[in-house]
Amino acid sequence: MKPRKTTGRRSPQQVLRDAISHHPAGRIAISFSGAEDVVLIDMAAQQGLSVDVFTLDTGRLHTETYKFLEEVRKHYDINIEVLMPDPKEVRELVTKKGLYSFYQDGHSECCAVRKIGPLKSKLESLDAWITGQRKDQSVTRINLAQTQEDQSFSTDDHTIVKYNPLSDWSLTEVWGYIRENNVPYNKLHDKGFVSIGCEPCTRAITPDQHERAGRWWWEEQTQKECGLHAQNVVKIVG
Ligand code: ADX
Ligand code: SF4
Repeated sequence: MKPRKTTGRRSPQQVLRDAISHHPAGRIAISFSGAEDVVLIDMAAQQGLSVDVFTLDTGRLHTETYKFLEEVRKHYDINIEVLMPDPKEVRELVTKKGLYSFYQDGHSECCAVRKIGPLKSKLESLDAWITGQRKDQSVTRINLAQTQEDQSFSTDDHTIVKYNPLSDWSLTEVWGYIRENNVPYNKLHDKGFVSIGCEPCTRAITPDQHERAGRWWWEEQTQKECGLHAQNVVKIVG
């Protein structure tokens, strides 16, 4: 199913509502990991909308992140599908290159095994996914649309739509919503972490740094996408 044409900017709540009503139950899901995503879960709950939620457990997340996932599950009384990488692929990678190869030759290979493989399999059973991406998160996301065709995971006979309801929101708006609505958050945020990924690839930042400065800090800014959102990189490089 192609993305529906819409005119004008819509609120995140409206994008979410339209997305969920546009696809049959079970064919659309929220991709959940961080602060933005739990805002989406909260917005769905507040509107009485039911939607599937999945997360990619890379096996390298912080303990705080696992506790956060659990808190969200209980708080909203929802199921969160926890997707894990193929153990054979992980074994081959770490046997050959060790547990920290990304510091030497970049994060793509490890992310491909631990995130992209499981996401690709999941998306084969969906027509659409909903992410918490925002335009101002990164130079790679400045053109991010509220609704787009997923150019990385669609195939000739299976179009996948990607919804980014918070594309126009700032970090301040996200945190305003979290505080105002008592939304659960990852306790790492109280320790200087802003954008949170895997433990070895995320660190706390200082207030003067960009929010994604703590992600893959040893790599070039324009390449800071792990493949979940690879089409963002193609846009700025191509
Ligand atoms: S990343 O590509 O750099 O890791 P980022 O952390 O900015 O992505 O998150 C952007 C969106 O991608 C999130 O709002 C969420 O929808 C999705 N996402 C990122 N990491 C995960 C994960 N581990 N599991 C599920 N969804 C994720
Ligand atoms: Fe591996 Fe780091 Fe990517 Fe996590 S973020 S999958 S540890 S390279």
